Order: sequence, then C-alpha cells, then structure tokens
Amino acid sequence: MTPTPDGPPADEEEIRRAPRAWHPTDLDLYLQRELGAPAHRDGPPPAARTAPGNGRHVQLPAPAPLPATALGDILATRRSRRAYSPAPLPLTDLSTLLHHAARTTGTLHDATLGDHAFHPYPSAGARAELEVYVVAGRVTGVLPGAYHYDTVTHRLTEVAPSGPQQDELYAYVRRALDKAETSTPPAAILLVTAVLQRLTWKYGRLGLTLMYQNLGCLYQTLYLVATALGLAPCAVGVGRGRQNARWLDLDPYTEPEVGCFALGRPRR
Ligand SMILES: Cc1cc2nc3c(=O)[nH]c(=O)nc-3n(C[C@H](O)[C@H](O)[C@H](O)COP(=O)(O)O)c2cc1C
Repeated sequence: MTPTPDGPPADEEEIRRAPRAWHPTDLDLYLQRELGAPAHRDGPPPAARTAPGNGRHVQLPAPAPLPATALGDILATRRSRRAYSPAPLPLTDLSTLLHHAARTTGTLHDATLGDHAFHPYPSAGARAELEVYVVAGRVTGVLPGAYHYDTVTHRLTEVAPSGPQQDELYAYVRRALDKAETSTPPAAILLVTAVLQRLTWKYGRLGLTLMYQNLGCLYQTLYLVATALGLAPCAVGVGRGRQNARWLDLDPYTEPEVGCFALGRPRR
C-alpha cells in the first residue's frame, strides 16, 4: 500500500496479520514514521512560546558555569539516582540545570514555517513543543508549588500553589521510584508537557512520535547536566497527566503532560 500524506500507511490486512506483536493503535502510530510531513498545512504556524502567566514570578539566580568535568567522566558516572538527601535543592543548582539543559539558546523566524527555537537538546524541526514545569518541594527560597519555566527569560511563574494535588504527585512519584512512604522524597519534580500543535501543524500525525524522540533528548540532557552538578536525577516513565492538568489548569489534550523527572541532592 502506498502511504498517503493524510492517512495511516498500514492497511487493515497488515494490522490484522500482526496482532500479537502490536496493538493496532501502536502499529498505526509506529507506521506514521513512514509518512513524512504532510504536504498541506492548515492556517498560520502556531507561536513557539507560551506567554508567561500572571502568577507570581521567581527570577532564577544567575546560572553557574558547568564544572570542567570531562564529558567522558560524566557519561561514565551518569546513573539514575533515587535516594535523596533531606537537604533542600539550592535554587542556584535548579537555575544552572535549567539553563544548561532547557533554556532557549536561539530563535529563528521563517516566513513559511514560523517560529523555531533552539535548546541545548536537539528537537525535530525546532518546533519547541516541550514545556517544563517545576514542582518545587524543597527548593531554597521557593514556596512549594508548581511553576512554569520560561526558557527565554529564565524565570519561573507560579501556576498552582502547593496542596493535596502536589502531595498526591509526590506520593505517586515515590511509588514509581519504588521508594517507601517513609523515604525522603525528591526535592523537586519536573513535569514536561507538549504543546502538540507546534509539531502537528508541520508534521501531522508524525508529530507524536517526534515529540517522544525529542523528550528523550531532553531527558538525556537533564541527566548529563544533573550528573555534572552532582545531583540525583531519575526519569519517571509513568504519569498522572490528566489529574496534574486539572491542578495546573492545562487542557490535557492541547498541552498533555508527557514526561516526569525527579531531582534532588543525593543521599551521601
Ligand atoms: C524514559 C525513562 C523512564 C524511566 N522511568 C522510571 C521509573 O518510572 N521509575 C524508576 O525508578 N526509574 C525509571 N527510569 C530509570 C531507569 O530505570 C534507568 O535508566 C535504568 O534502570 C538504567 O539505569 P541507569 O539510568 O542508572 O543507567 C526511567 C528511565 C527512562 C529513560
């Protein structure tokens, strides 16, 4: 069957013949890779940046330069670390991590394709669909709660105060990390969302698979920078996106939560 830009490339027979290895929906999504970008795009390209909200702003302190550790040493020592010190995460460490892993390093406007934004991690088409929210538990000088990270101004904006939803998120992440209720929780949790239209406007249904690849790039960059800073990083593969969306006042289908990353100072 010849792939068409607008339809799934798998025919029913192919999906029927592969029932054991693939759930039909997964197979259909997988085969989107073969489609490429659709030829037609609807409407003008979406803006590549989420405007900061009206919540309280926290200007992050100046980020520190990364320690001069050789990349080979960082790669050799990078591990997922799930045992945390009860000490708070210094705000400078959070600032340094976000700066070196997630900030906007440059922008470019194209008359046809619209805004592009570049980050320390690569991303398909530089569509800048990933957004980072910091759920602060024990971060020096930051009230517990959820904050959006503006990758351009390097500022946090409060989107939701701490409350039962934050407690539930922390309990959920501790279970995902296989940690007892009595263990020290991470100092902060990063939630990653995706403004999917920034990708799907250009790539159609291919966009979802690209987003997950971009998320992997962001995860690895967070891991490497956190390791260089001597922090305890761990990606979390599961999530309670729709509950968190209610708390953060996000539309879970326009800007779904797609990633989660636990962070703290390591227990010595
Ligand atoms: C996408 C992704 C999801 C993960 N999800 C979890 C998780 O939910 N819970 C957990 O304890 N570790 C999680 N991890 C960490 C892995 O278990 C870990 O990377 C793996 O065991 C290899 O160990 P290392 O990172 O120390 O090299 C995840 C890692 C990645 C990249």
